[in-house]
Amino acid sequence: MFFPNDVDRVLISEDEIKQKVSEMGKRLTEEYSGKNPLFLCVLRGASVFFADLIRSVECPLEIDFIRTSSYVGTNSSGNVFVEENIPDIQGRDVVVVEDIVDTARTLSKLKTLLLGEKPRSLKFAVLLDKPSRREAEEDFKADFMGFKIEDLFVVGYGLDFNGKYRNLPYVGVLKS
Ligand code: IMP
Ligand code: MG
Repeated sequence: MFFPNDVDRVLISEDEIKQKVSEMGKRLTEEYSGKNPLFLCVLRGASVFFADLIRSVECPLEIDFIRTSSYVGTNSSGNVFVEENIPDIQGRDVVVVEDIVDTARTLSKLKTLLLGEKPRSLKFAVLLDKPSRREAEEDFKADFMGFKIEDLFVVGYGLDFNGKYRNLPYVGVLKS
């Protein structure tokens, strides 16, 4: 298994991720049966999770992409940028797929922006949650959540540090 020097340990194994994604897929399948949801991938961190998750959802769906950025190194810059145009989601059942909720600034901002586009419904599927990092004013809660983790900087399965480690098949803790 690819195990770079900068990674301290595996936090969530490939098997644990597979199991969780399959459970989340089942719940999403129940929730959206008879509908034609639009799954919106938050680039770039959610790309790996997104690719696995949509294949575990057994109902017709469409996909689109949105790009946000806020992090510089291991610190949130405090500003959230939504790059490129927001796709047309008016009247759609939208599921936003994100890798991790940290301070929740990104998803709170995205939620406000997307609600302004008048979707029929808007839900959030997120792989990882760091609840201890939540800022007082952000009480964001994902509708479909994978794992709660401690306040550690993690990489792999789409998550990066300065653009690296997205291709690790597990979620690992970066050496400090
Ligand atoms: P938030 O706006 O503070 O919730 O930050 C969300 C974004 O920060 C995520 O979409 C990730 O791109 C990035 N992020 C937060 N924590 C981590 C981490 O532990 N590893 C890698 N990226 C992270
Ligand atoms: Mg992200």
